[in-house]
Amino acid sequence: MLNATPLARARPITGLASLWRSTIGKKYVMAITGLIWFGYLIVHLWGNLNVYAGPVFLNTYGDWLRIVGEPFLGYSQFLWLARIILIPAFVVHVWAAVQLTSRDRASRPRRYDMRKNLESTFASRTMIFGGIFILLFLIYHLLDFTFGTVNPSYQPSDIYHNVVASFQRWPVVVFYELAMIAVGLHLFHGIWSTFQTLGWNTARITHGVRNVATVCAVLLTLGNMSIPLAVLSGIVG
Ligand code: HEM
Repeated sequence: MLNATPLARARPITGLASLWRSTIGKKYVMAITGLIWFGYLIVHLWGNLNVYAGPVFLNTYGDWLRIVGEPFLGYSQFLWLARIILIPAFVVHVWAAVQLTSRDRASRPRRYDMRKNLESTFASRTMIFGGIFILLFLIYHLLDFTFGTVNPSYQPSDIYHNVVASFQRWPVVVFYELAMIAVGLHLFHGIWSTFQTLGWNTARITHGVRNVATVCAVLLTLGNMSIPLAVLSGIVG
């Protein structure tokens, strides 16, 4: 009689699967997917700052996003390529975060080392709550500017109009400002964690790289925060 135990039937876990199962592997995945979004946010802000140059500039940037790569790529294909990278990166980032948090909770000591435990989990706890807030923001943001369902007067080919229409309402501006602060804090902690994960926290040269990344996160936050305020105050509009 065959007596196959679950252990005998289980396939050996190798390569990417074992990396994904390990804590360090998940941290690597979080670092890489976080960097992808960091890069996207820099490009996104660069494009959004066209709002200060007026409707023609911002709308031309929006059109350019759709025709870039022609004639090798068709209309909107570049945008879809970016989405094909960004969407899975986002999902995997959240997935790894949830698994790392539950693993961290499960291994948390009850009585001993309370101080160290409190310090180490404060950052990760704010990261997870900040992350949930950013997720809610992103859903609203897509409904606002991509699908137009929550925008007061959405016009598919007029990004400038949509941005101005949305940020003329102060509750929306407050929500965006809080979300931009959450994104900034998330990036700031994410950058430090990434350097820790990749083992780049020792060599002297990396201080420069880390400082550049931190300055980018601060500029990104301030740049993003300025746009809703500029519309609400009438500087843009
Ligand atoms: C005040 C700051 C921001 C402004 C004014 C802004 C503006 C916009 C606009 C106008 C669009 C539509 C672009 C188009 O249809 O061509 C858009 C799309 C998008 N934004 Fe933002 N954005 C801001 C911050 C952010 C942040 C912080 C994130 C991420 C956390 C983000 C993620 C996205 C994504 C994923 C899209 C969809 C891109 C696509 O169509 O695939 N945005 N944003």
